[in-house]
Amino acid sequence: MLWCLIFGLAWAAAAYGQNSANPKAPISLDSRPNIVFILTDDQDLHLGSLDYMPLLRKHLVEQGTSYKRHFCTIAICCPSRVSLWTGQAAHNTNVTDVSPPYGGYPKFISQGYNDNWLPVWLQEAGYNTYYTGKLFNAHTTSNYDSPFIKGFTGSDFLLDPFTYQYLNSSFQRNHDPPVNYANQYLGDVLAGKVYGFLDDAVKEDKPFFLTVAPIAPHANVDRPNGTARFAPPIPAERHANLFPNVTVPRTENFNPGNPSGASWIRNLPQQSQENVDYNDEFYRLRLRTIQSVDELVDGVVTRLEQYGILNNTYVIYSTDNGFHIGQHRLQPGKECGYEEDINIPLIVRGPGVPKNEATEIVTSHTDLSPTFLTLADAPLRATFDGQAIPFSRSGLDEAKEKRHEHVNVEFWGMYLGEGASRFNGDTDYDNNTYKAVRIISDSYSLYYSVWCTNEHELYDLKTDPGQLNNLLLNSTSNSTTLLDCPLQKLVARLDSLLFVLKSCKGKECIRPWAALHPQGDVANLQDALSPRFDDFYENQQERISFTRCELGYLLDAEGPQFNRNGLLYREGSIWHHWI
Ligand SMILES: *[C@@H]1O[C@H](CO)[C@@H](O)[C@H](O)[C@H]1NC(C)=O
Ligand SMILES: *[C@@H]1O[C@H](CO)[C@@H](O)[C@H](O)[C@H]1NC(C)=O
Ligand SMILES: *[C@@H]1O[C@H](CO)[C@@H](O)[C@H](O)[C@H]1NC(C)=O
Ligand SMILES: *[C@@H]1O[C@H](CO)[C@@H](O)[C@H](O)[C@H]1NC(C)=O
Ligand SMILES: *[C@@H]1O[C@H](CO)[C@@H](O)[C@H](O)[C@H]1NC(C)=O
Ligand SMILES: *[C@@H]1O[C@H](CO)[C@@H](O)[C@H](O)[C@H]1NC(C)=O
Ligand SMILES: *[C@@H]1O[C@H](CO)[C@@H](O)[C@H](O)[C@H]1NC(C)=O
Ligand SMILES: *[C@@H]1O[C@H](CO)[C@@H](O)[C@H](O)[C@H]1NC(C)=O
Repeated sequence: MLWCLIFGLAWAAAAYGQNSANPKAPISLDSRPNIVFILTDDQDLHLGSLDYMPLLRKHLVEQGTSYKRHFCTIAICCPSRVSLWTGQAAHNTNVTDVSPPYGGYPKFISQGYNDNWLPVWLQEAGYNTYYTGKLFNAHTTSNYDSPFIKGFTGSDFLLDPFTYQYLNSSFQRNHDPPVNYANQYLGDVLAGKVYGFLDDAVKEDKPFFLTVAPIAPHANVDRPNGTARFAPPIPAERHANLFPNVTVPRTENFNPGNPSGASWIRNLPQQSQENVDYNDEFYRLRLRTIQSVDELVDGVVTRLEQYGILNNTYVIYSTDNGFHIGQHRLQPGKECGYEEDINIPLIVRGPGVPKNEATEIVTSHTDLSPTFLTLADAPLRATFDGQAIPFSRSGLDEAKEKRHEHVNVEFWGMYLGEGASRFNGDTDYDNNTYKAVRIISDSYSLYYSVWCTNEHELYDLKTDPGQLNNLLLNSTSNSTTLLDCPLQKLVARLDSLLFVLKSCKGKECIRPWAALHPQGDVANLQDALSPRFDDFYENQQERISFTRCELGYLLDAEGPQFNRNGLLYREGSIWHHWI
């Protein structure tokens, strides 16, 4: 009871505590801030892409705060975007793939989200909403009007099958038919559209939420014979010769001599020199392609300044998921649970946001919808699996003490390499279904995963940032200790935490330890490691296990469930059936 009360107050404080510093908007009677959201596609944090964006650095990094521990919770475009726009984990949206039956635009529609997602809520709260660029995969030149996307005052969407064609894009504006932009550079077409929407937005007497979602630095994808063909991204001509000598950073996990990772990843061959050379060029082409986004950041911020509204506008920069090239011997791609794919850029500038700072508070894409609604002073939704991200100095200081330390990571289905097919072979790896938790505090930094093959991984990123040493690879050794604790004791806690997270809803996702310890005396892993809980965790809990690998979220493949048919012993209670 008491816990619920404290939690409720903290929630309300987090939700409404940050708007006090907002200055008056110069042109609107409604003083709420404008929000510009720039959402790139497949941009890495760990391969150094931000180091090649001087205008982003000048306008956002130096004028705002970088969230170094920001994560996507599912490392692929459409599922990650649906999570972002609904504030729900993918296991709750059940949009888990880029195309039907498990994902894509049709699944977004059939799950009922067109009437119930962020832009609709923002409109209800009195915002004008604008969007240009890529929204979802499988949003096509054939299905864009059945039905039309709801929630935007103005929209101009890139459509499949031309979404990833840098020189032959198709856009579809409001309720107009699609228009083809053959031989025009996608980045420049997009910039024109976003500047146009900005001009529209400032004429209105309402605050606005404007999203621009460039394709850069995603691979170029065309379909010469119906089948998707991946190639490196295509830069604008003016950027085509930049960075001639740059290569993928040779971190210790780059094309390592010993296999690493789990499941199909562990069996990958080391890459040949020819393969590495190709991938280095792929990398340079990404850096060149993203220059048009760097220019776009400059164009947007400059215009906001010219309109006199920069000081009442939040500019928020992120991407849908990360990217790897060569780490763990992987060909260019995403879809894995390793740091390169899940830990992604989030940079924010705006009223009250500390300048030129970085924070280590743990945040994820499921937190963004609550964050946007909070900025708009609009009510939060009961369905949210995330928690508003603080932007103010006081909010950040409080989060450092109180915010949770975990990220729930999940994936279903196939893995697809996006490099040259001669290196990928003909293989798609279809056992790429796993659950994972990333957990970060001052004293630990861990990644724990369970695969659909029932393989397990545990990495100590404090000593093994490249995730090369899976501590659970050989189940024969009991002598290893971590955090002064025998491994099996630690794993018992992590497994129970992940057991809650993999099917959590709402507040359970934000305070999962409270689902295990309703008295509220356990708030983090450190608390749970207390020896008084040894019996509770080691002998009385269900363990995560899969019965088989599936390409989607099929409950009967995923073993016991915390809040459905599973039995779970909660501290201080009897065996308990969760409905
Ligand atoms: C470019 O797009 C148009 C339709 O928007 C399509 O008809 C044409 O085949 C495309 N060209 C190439 C080279 O893909
Ligand atoms: C399409 O072309 C690729 C080579 O670019 C080939 O491997 C594939 O079999 C073709 N698919 C069809 C359906 O013809
Ligand atoms: C790239 O490397 C070549 C050969 O080492 C060198 O001549 C050239 O100056 C380098 N270019 C840049 C831009 O660093
Ligand atoms: C914001 O900038 C505008 C235009 O430069 C100025 O008129 C206004 O006073 C500024 N507001 C605040 C709170 O600084
Ligand atoms: C696991 O066992 C193999 C051989 O059985 C050994 O080479 C490897 O070093 C062990 N790995 C760990 C993490 O203990
Ligand atoms: C390791 O510990 C587990 C749990 O305490 C036990 O079941 C297992 O037999 C031990 N293995 C070895 C090789 O001692
Ligand atoms: C995929 O997982 C299934 C178990 O669900 C297993 O039987 C199969 O061998 C795995 N395939 C590969 C290629 O590892
Ligand atoms: C998720 O969607 C798939 C495809 O429609 C469906 O088969 C599955 O039962 C759904 N999973 C859950 C947990 O609802």
